[in-house]
Amino acid sequence: MTMQFRENRKGILLAGGAGSRLHPATLGVSKHLLPVYDKPMAYYPMSALMLAGIRDVLIVTTPEDSGNYQRLFGDGSHLGMRFEYAQQAKPGGIAEVFEIAAEFIGDSPVCLVLGDNIFYGQGFTPQLQAVAARQRGATLFAYPVKEPERFGVVSLGAAGQVLRLEEKPAEAFSNLAVTGLYFFDNDVLDLAKEVRPSSRGEKEIVDVLKAYQAQGTLQAEVLGRGFVWLDAGTPESLLEAGTLVQAIEQRQGLKIACLEEIAWCSGWITSEKLEKLIWQLGKTEYSGYLISLLQTK
Ligand code: DAU
Repeated sequence: MTMQFRENRKGILLAGGAGSRLHPATLGVSKHLLPVYDKPMAYYPMSALMLAGIRDVLIVTTPEDSGNYQRLFGDGSHLGMRFEYAQQAKPGGIAEVFEIAAEFIGDSPVCLVLGDNIFYGQGFTPQLQAVAARQRGATLFAYPVKEPERFGVVSLGAAGQVLRLEEKPAEAFSNLAVTGLYFFDNDVLDLAKEVRPSSRGEKEIVDVLKAYQAQGTLQAEVLGRGFVWLDAGTPESLLEAGTLVQAIEQRQGLKIACLEEIAWCSGWITSEKLEKLIWQLGKTEYSGYLISLLQTK
């Protein structure tokens, strides 16, 4: 039987970059393969794509790390998904990913998630699915933070419309950071081609968003209080993310970003296939969690 992919939106997991803010931890291994408590960092952004209903994903890595990602994620069929791989030779900026992924995207809409971004909170799945259903324009997700100038910053009007967007402004003009999760229609391929490298030599994702803003087709979703967004790109934030995941998982007995669970609950894999994955994982706390899911179904 051939597999049916109902959601036509493609997903991109961007896991390149130098990870230099984590040196020496990342001298020998890609940042997104480091563990955040009980699983690799890249599982967390992958789970966001899956919760949005996306099954067709391009994983973009550095040339050196590509083999490790292929070992970790395979062709995706174990999750009822389809993974392809592409390489970014040098970190030329997040917006460069659209040139790399042009053939993969084809004429589909696309969702891009950065490999070091962790999202967790009630109501996230319906919110993602509502955004994924939008066929026109682009959507960013904004989140209130204490030091917005460390990120892309966005300010919104009373009706939620995007007023101003800047990448790491010297002075923050709002407390809303632009998170690393973006939904685009297929115009992104043409709009990203127009983006020129910024003063720091990178093709900025914020410039792609600004192109949508200029067209009047940029929307913003605010992730509110009670929601967790972390980017695990520094030693502090990596540790903070691991501690937080541990606290939530131990308190609730539920796992965050358990890809096998999401695939199984979405009906992308059968219970028999889940059992096989459990067997392949061997005896770990993680596989014990999956066994308990099967037993309480
Ligand atoms: O995390 C959200 C922030 O991510 C946004 O608020 C910013 O607007 C956006 O520019 C980005 O800022 P960062 O300073 O965190 O970008 P960074 O260079 O750390 O890269 C983010 C992720 O993307 C990281 O996991 C590595 C990957 N990356 C980055 C670049 C520049 C690539 O794979 N290739 C690249 O060329």
